[in-house]
Amino acid sequence: MSSHASDTPVLRTDRLLLRHWDPTDPDDVDFLFDMYARWDVQRFIGRVPRVMESRDEALARAEAWAGHGDVAPFGIWAATRADDGARLGSILLKSIPASGPTEPLAPSGDTEIGWHLHPDAWGHGYASEGAAVVLAAAFGAGLDRVVAVTHPDNAASQAVCRRIGMTSLGLSDTYYNTTCALFEARSMRE
Ligand SMILES: CC(C)(COP(=O)(O)OP(=O)(O)OC[C@H]1O[C@@H](n2cnc3c(N)ncnc32)[C@H](O)[C@@H]1OP(=O)(O)O)[C@@H](O)C(=O)NCCC(=O)NCCS
Repeated sequence: MSSHASDTPVLRTDRLLLRHWDPTDPDDVDFLFDMYARWDVQRFIGRVPRVMESRDEALARAEAWAGHGDVAPFGIWAATRADDGARLGSILLKSIPASGPTEPLAPSGDTEIGWHLHPDAWGHGYASEGAAVVLAAAFGAGLDRVVAVTHPDNAASQAVCRRIGMTSLGLSDTYYNTTCALFEARSMRE
């Protein structure tokens, strides 16, 4: 992995190493394109889901995301398997926009956690393991509350929320001008 200006901290678990996406690494860009070009991955993401259509889009995303960790503990991590470096997907901790009348939507002041794994990596507990360490880092850095917004039909993602100890708050229109099944986690300090 080459170095990059991003301050996204490297996070480790028993099986995973979470690092920043590297736009100068063609294998990172190829992986992102392969993952986000799949309807199975995209179908529950965004207000109007669409698959990624070109490798240039993947490159632009890697470039944008590589700089996303400038303010710790926020980041968009490449989740990789610790023993062989295999890329598994993305884990995100970022500010979340509020619903509102104007685009771009204004920040809500809240923080969201999210996860997108390549289908080859589903069913191993990797998303939950990676999300748990990101959540711990968020609380370790002093955040009080982290939310997750899931498509109401996205049972797999809601299961991740529950596995990492998040609480269901039911359906909500608070964020992204859409109705989601909302989950939250609160810092133990509260
Ligand atoms: C949401 C998503 C990340 C969930 O992935 P996942 O692999 O099901 O989630 P986990 O990492 O928690 O893995 C749990 C599964 O691994 C299995 N598993 C195997 N070994 C395990 C282990 N050591 N520890 C925990 N779970 C393990 C569990 O039994 C479970 O399988 P099951 O759902 O068939 O019972 C994945 O479906 C995805 O990327 N979807 C597309 C993108 C998306 O919708 N993202 C969410 C947007 S809100």
